[in-house]
Amino acid sequence: MSLQLTPIDRAKYAAARRAVDLVEDGMKLGLGTGSTAAWMIRALAARAQEENLRLTCAATSNRSADLAAELGLKVVTLDQAGWLDLTIDGADEFDAELTLIKGGGGAHLMEKIVAAASDRMVVITDASKEVKTLGNFPLPVEVIPFGWQSTRMLIEEMLNAMDVMGTQATLRMNGEAPFVTDQGNHILDLGLGRIGNPRQLSLALNQVPGVVENGLFIDICDAVVIGYGDGRVEMRDIASGSVEHERIVFEEEDNIFRDI
Ligand code: 5RP
Repeated sequence: MSLQLTPIDRAKYAAARRAVDLVEDGMKLGLGTGSTAAWMIRALAARAQEENLRLTCAATSNRSADLAAELGLKVVTLDQAGWLDLTIDGADEFDAELTLIKGGGGAHLMEKIVAAASDRMVVITDASKEVKTLGNFPLPVEVIPFGWQSTRMLIEEMLNAMDVMGTQATLRMNGEAPFVTDQGNHILDLGLGRIGNPRQLSLALNQVPGVVENGLFIDICDAVVIGYGDGRVEMRDIASGSVEHERIVFEEEDNIFRDI
């Protein structure tokens, strides 16, 4: 495996494996979206099979739901699951308070709903996503298609009064057509450069007519698991302030690598 995967993939896998150790028999889980979350779903399915765990999963995107079901996990809707014990998801940026930017994969609306409906949200990531100040990664904002250009103008105007460096909102594309989320909406990516006050910005964005949800996750994430290419993992818990270090051993015969 170490020969086939890039150091970033190994880092993502290490974080995912450590986070899956937090899962207990009988839990209701939220499954994130993205490449790191896909590693987690594979590791979760392998562990569930080996240990015969009874798990119920609600996914944050159609693609995560499809992958989980394909690997034999029980997938239900969030409404069928009700309240969740734990959600494990990736992030595009995180800071010292575990405030996140999410939505690089276009799923932050469902990701926020699922994470907010969980006792605990754990983010899995490689070390490159940690920042002092959020905003280098363009902030995704999900908007309804109707009147999206007016929504974009209102957002750009509002950004002039915010503590940010840039104000440009770009419609996310999928080839020649606008990207469409699982909920049938579009995404505007905001080139902010620096977000001085994430809380104020998040509130202001969600007040613009046409905005469904922005990609800032504030007071939602409880812990972060940071993986490294050599298998080291660091787990930081925001409530207890604890920091744990471990090492994941990569085994080429792991079930999850069979189809990769
Ligand atoms: C999807 C997300 C992802 O969690 C985020 O983009 C990180 O993705 P990856 O694990 O592929 O780096 O927010 O909407």
